[in-house]
Amino acid sequence: MRFSTVSLAALTVASPALASPVSRGDTESERANAVKQAFQIAWDGYYAHAFPHDQLHPVDNGYDDNYDGWGASAVDAISTAAIMGNQQVVDQILNYIPTIDFKYSNETTISLFETTIRYLGGLLAGYDLLSGPAANLVSDKSKVHALLSQAQVLADTLSYAFETPSGVPYNNLLINNRSNDGSTTNGLATTGSLIIEWTHLADLTGNETYAQLAQKAESYLIHPQPSWAEPFPGLVGSTIDIATGEFTDNYVTWNGGDDSFYEYLIKFFVYDQSRFSEYRDVWLAAANSTLEHLLSHPAPKPELTFVNIWDNGTLISTSEHLTGFIGGNFLLAGSVLGRQDLIDAGLAFTDSWHATYNSTATKIGPEVFAWDEAGVPADQEAFYKEAGFYITSADYVLRPEVIESYYYAYRITGDTKYQDWAWDAFLAINSTCHVGSGYSGIQNVNIAGGDGFDNVQESFLFAEVLKYSYMIHAEDADWQTKADGLNKFVFNTEAHPFKIAGPA
Ligand SMILES: *[C@@H]1O[C@H](CO)[C@@H](O)[C@H](O)[C@H]1NC(C)=O
Ligand SMILES: *[C@@H]1O[C@H](CO)[C@@H](O)[C@H](O)[C@H]1NC(C)=O
Ligand SMILES: *[C@@H]1O[C@H](CO)[C@@H](O)[C@H](O)[C@H]1NC(C)=O
Ligand SMILES: *[C@@H]1O[C@H](CO)[C@@H](O)[C@H](O)[C@H]1NC(C)=O
Ligand SMILES: *[C@@H]1O[C@H](CO)[C@@H](O)[C@H](O)[C@H]1NC(C)=O
Ligand SMILES: *[C@@H]1O[C@H](CO)[C@@H](O)[C@H](O)[C@H]1NC(C)=O
Ligand SMILES: *[C@@H]1O[C@H](CO)[C@@H](O)[C@H](O)[C@H]1NC(C)=O
Repeated sequence: MRFSTVSLAALTVASPALASPVSRGDTESERANAVKQAFQIAWDGYYAHAFPHDQLHPVDNGYDDNYDGWGASAVDAISTAAIMGNQQVVDQILNYIPTIDFKYSNETTISLFETTIRYLGGLLAGYDLLSGPAANLVSDKSKVHALLSQAQVLADTLSYAFETPSGVPYNNLLINNRSNDGSTTNGLATTGSLIIEWTHLADLTGNETYAQLAQKAESYLIHPQPSWAEPFPGLVGSTIDIATGEFTDNYVTWNGGDDSFYEYLIKFFVYDQSRFSEYRDVWLAAANSTLEHLLSHPAPKPELTFVNIWDNGTLISTSEHLTGFIGGNFLLAGSVLGRQDLIDAGLAFTDSWHATYNSTATKIGPEVFAWDEAGVPADQEAFYKEAGFYITSADYVLRPEVIESYYYAYRITGDTKYQDWAWDAFLAINSTCHVGSGYSGIQNVNIAGGDGFDNVQESFLFAEVLKYSYMIHAEDADWQTKADGLNKFVFNTEAHPFKIAGPA
């Protein structure tokens, strides 16, 4: 169902749970348009100075090929361009995609995980949107089909990574001669964030091998061995032995390195509730264990709720910008499973990561922060007492996770406070990170102006930051998350929306 700001007829058939997203006036559409304008600025800079390389260096109009050299920003931008209805950019990307040679990369090693979430994710979401609810943007259907055929070429190039004794893949690949970097282990997130993309490709093409490869690898994570690697039900270690599929540690965290393993457990269930209920059960166990054992409230601000690391019995009070997705993940689970307790936990996390934004000089949250009373740096004592945390890595690299959680909080509760928070964050990023021909990461979120630029316009600015910033103010649409849990799309960890395969 599509809500319109002008059609009263649409309002009368709106489900009560979704009532508030329609109560928008000119302010909200102005906000959505301002985000579209920022997308155009970022794209124009990239297209003029960096395309078809991976990422723009906006300060000096340079570029990098840090993500395989296949035009990561272009492929990462397609689903956002489609959602924004940006026909010109959709055309530019669709004309480019058939020209990519996914069998060859100039880069020394490429990451199976990064390649899966950005490229496979972007191609499949582009296919779903442009053959589905955004089909009106495309006249030449063969270009849409190329998204799927190129996804298949890419997966066929990568699939040798799973040819290991256990089926746990190598992550760092030299695809030109089908070799790897010789690692004996793989990480939890890099192993455990492949199932949605590879299964969706299998569903779209009918080639079950893609699904089997990713699900075999994941089987070691949801049935962890040895038993000490699962210190609490559902919460597991961070490193897996490629030869045996066994964990080599029991270091538990929702921070970077482990994050999207937990994220995907519930999202895979959302993708197909008829086939993947086992993943829901593991997510529920992990969520319960997290609420029971890992929650932590900073001494000066006990109303905030962060998540500890568990390191073999020792709790470590450190978290990250990356971990800010946790609010949205609990909110999605709560809405789909009809569990108010999970929604409440998701809102508590979302509020707390909001505090990492509103406490700083730039109003942008830091990369890494901590709240262990024993470790407060002398020069941050006042900041810690006021904010409830202190900053241990002050940079911001255009990450989306906090805005992502605002998105779920707004879509699921309808409380416009979250739209206001997303708008505050957008304005802060738009003014602090804009430089030269685009947007850049900054060195220090707690110095007005950001204290200098890292000169990288990350491809996920297109895929994630600008998509969630836009959608939170945009009309309802098939791809939007639904308050009643009856979703038609689910977002991968790069914010690429996939059409759900099973019954909602
Ligand atoms: C690979 O690198 C070489 C040398 O830097 C360059 O000439 C060539 O165009 C690159 N090929 C691709 C496909 O990027
Ligand atoms: C199915 O995918 C696998 C894995 O990439 C590939 O080896 C195989 O050739 C594919 N089968 C077909 C019929 O395309
Ligand atoms: C594959 O290529 C890389 C880089 O060119 C080289 O270092 C490596 O030895 C090759 N591996 C095999 C198994 O041929
Ligand atoms: C965990 O700590 C125990 C001692 O408390 C030690 O015996 C064990 O080796 C540690 N395990 C790991 C994986 O570090
Ligand atoms: C975790 O699960 C146990 C057993 O079902 C239940 O008693 C407990 O209330 C749950 N804890 C939370 C925080 O949901
Ligand atoms: C900052 O955010 C926190 C959490 O949402 C909130 O409790 C606090 O009132 C906010 N402070 C300001 C100055 O807006
Ligand atoms: C966002 O930044 C651009 C570039 O500086 C500027 O033109 C635009 O007005 C800004 N948008 C808002 C809403 O402030």
